[in-house]
Amino acid sequence: MREHHTPVMLAESMDLLIVDRSGKYFDATLGFAGHSGEILNRLNPDGLLIASEVDKDAFEYCQNKFSGELRLNLYNFNYSLIDVMAKIESIEFFDGILADLGVSSFQLDEPSAGFTFRTDVPFDLRMDKTKKVTAADVVNKFAEEDLAKIFYKYGEEKNSRKIARSIINTRIERKIETTGDLVSIIEKLVPQHYLRKTLSRVFQSLRIYVNDELENLKVFLENSVKVLKKGGRLVVITYHSLEDRIVKDFYKNESIINLSPKEDPLGMIKKEARLKIITKKPITPSEDEVKNNYRSRSAKLRVAERI
Ligand SMILES: C[S@@+](CC[C@H](N)C(=O)[O-])C[C@H]1O[C@@H](n2cnc3c(N)ncnc32)[C@H](O)[C@@H]1O
Repeated sequence: MREHHTPVMLAESMDLLIVDRSGKYFDATLGFAGHSGEILNRLNPDGLLIASEVDKDAFEYCQNKFSGELRLNLYNFNYSLIDVMAKIESIEFFDGILADLGVSSFQLDEPSAGFTFRTDVPFDLRMDKTKKVTAADVVNKFAEEDLAKIFYKYGEEKNSRKIARSIINTRIERKIETTGDLVSIIEKLVPQHYLRKTLSRVFQSLRIYVNDELENLKVFLENSVKVLKKGGRLVVITYHSLEDRIVKDFYKNESIINLSPKEDPLGMIKKEARLKIITKKPITPSEDEVKNNYRSRSAKLRVAERI
């Protein structure tokens, strides 16, 4: 099988994550186990790794790959349920938690995964295929303002209204069923040199919406702190500014004890800092890594420690 995914900032993330080689770790985004494989390489025989993955293909691939590995338990769960997985495993606290957000290269490149705009495939964009709403449902059924909002809010797309309008006009005549159907609508609206960027933003926005990615991330961060041991690390790799802002603000908010007068006008709320920020500025991939793996170019790694 060809390479499914090249793990991003592997050494950097591992060095910051693993504080105890006999500890218990959680990989929120198993993917094709680039990071999980390396965690296992570094763990002692008495270490343990729990990993979650919503995509069934990736999950089953890893189940097969690691069938004899006793230090690994896999869940085909959403990572926002980290606290539930900890309970099932009778784990009170993890020594470290890693999340490498977004989608894998396999999901982006493999036509049957339904994520790419480079081939004409049914317009899906669900990572978890048991979820009800597909990207096709959204573009065929949502109102114009709602579509424009999704493109703007989750894709930061300036032509959001124009694109939403054109979708509405097209669907009066025919349903939008494939990625190619949407590409051909957008193609007519933007200049050729701008097309790829626009498509990336529109597809990203629909993917974030269909998978409820930002909400899942917020719940995951909140639940992670509850199951992270004091001194343990929360290591998150993001790929776009919307995710990065959520992680950055969460770390900041959890490391501050003094609330602003606006948040607490009477000075009555007692707040305890739960995190210490380890990476004042996010770590980014080296030039060499970006040269060898172009998809790493937008990655940002942020680390906080439970206190
Ligand atoms: C960038 S890839 C991870 C790659 C992995 N670190 C590796 O090296 O192979 C992100 C993975 O997270 C999965 N994912 C995204 N959102 C998820 C969620 N809410 N819960 C669990 N897995 C999720 C995706 O399906 C994808 O396989």
